[in-house]
Amino acid sequence: MATPFSAVELIRRKRDGHPLADAEIDWLIEAYTRGDIAEEQMAALAMAIYFTGMAPTELDRWTAAMIASGERLDFSGLSRPTADKHSTGGVGDKITLVLAPLVAACGVAVPQLSGRGLGLTGGTLDKMEAIPGWRAQLSTTEMLTQLEDVGAVICAAGSGLAPADRKLYALRDVTGTVESIPLIASSIMSKKIAEGTSALVLDVKVGSGAFMQTAERGRELAETLVRLGTAAGVRTRALVTEMGTPLGRSAGNAVEVAEAVEVLAGGGPSDVVELTLALAREMLSATGRDGVDPADALADGRAMDVWRRMVHAQGGDPAAPLPRARHTETITAETDGILEHLDAHAVGLAAWRLGAGRARKEDAVQAAAGVTWTVRPGEQIRAGQPLLHLHTDTPDRLPGARDALARAYRIGTCTPVTPLIHDWIG
Ligand code: URA
Repeated sequence: MATPFSAVELIRRKRDGHPLADAEIDWLIEAYTRGDIAEEQMAALAMAIYFTGMAPTELDRWTAAMIASGERLDFSGLSRPTADKHSTGGVGDKITLVLAPLVAACGVAVPQLSGRGLGLTGGTLDKMEAIPGWRAQLSTTEMLTQLEDVGAVICAAGSGLAPADRKLYALRDVTGTVESIPLIASSIMSKKIAEGTSALVLDVKVGSGAFMQTAERGRELAETLVRLGTAAGVRTRALVTEMGTPLGRSAGNAVEVAEAVEVLAGGGPSDVVELTLALAREMLSATGRDGVDPADALADGRAMDVWRRMVHAQGGDPAAPLPRARHTETITAETDGILEHLDAHAVGLAAWRLGAGRARKEDAVQAAAGVTWTVRPGEQIRAGQPLLHLHTDTPDRLPGARDALARAYRIGTCTPVTPLIHDWIG
């Protein structure tokens, strides 16, 4: 059958910096999802977009076409408003684990449709799967029932949401075309808009452990995401937050669950608490609950109650001991001083090499693998004191992780002053 457009012609046009028309975009996404456009042609188009960008109207249409490639969920039958949070991915980012039950404890339903990790930044589902018995796969009916009864759900996004993105993201991952603002923005927002949440808060990470290396690039991505969400009728806000240093004191799977539970119990590292509360306030405000202080629900145990019910509803045992690694190794400080820097990328790489992350989609992760650290940047350490702990079930992974951490930190006399939250947008 004759096709209405020529893929080669559209690639050439995009390569030469000309915008694509609505009908051309619709056809490209539809034909690619059906398998009628070759992977190498889509790869060339993604590279052309990487270099020449997209006009706002083009990006709106591209995102709409990706949404139209699959199904849309409908939360309008729930008795409370919905708010979702999406992080562009960072090292030690366990915020969702605390945030979902916390916001639910404040009266808002939180559907967290999440993914598994690929590369250095961990996936929320990999972390939750460290909890004995917990299952990620829920039917739509199970998800809606849990949202109504418990208020929060963290589960795998079904394959029916934005299937065009599923294909395109996998292709971008192997063709060096992930780090393009229009492609990232349309990828994230097509899934989030198709998911049907009424409010969305984005945590756009910047620094060595993130896609975006600078606050300026992060701001550009955040503005693009907020514009797309708002245009689609979703109340969307974004925070641009620091990812030059990892969050909290742990990166991995079970180690991050343990830290999230500490925060739910009213303790935990101050940066995790601060960012969780900032995001919770945005989610509550975007759903008309400005007067509710999420700090109260953390302090009085309501968030912990929702966590336990949420884990239990998905077959997990919130009281069961978390898996512990069969092998650990400690790196100690060589000198007295202040920890001036701990590099997010190096810590993420070490955790990944220890087995916390995967190199290919089909790889399994080790639940107990990861890195933990005893002091955060700005805190004092003494020579000989433990600084970093490496956890793995396979000891042959230890040297590679040690190498990754060799230049990951600096001990000196200066207190670092980088803010945790760089910007608010929306
Ligand atoms: N996360 C996504 O879902 N898509 C991207 O392109 C990048 C991060």
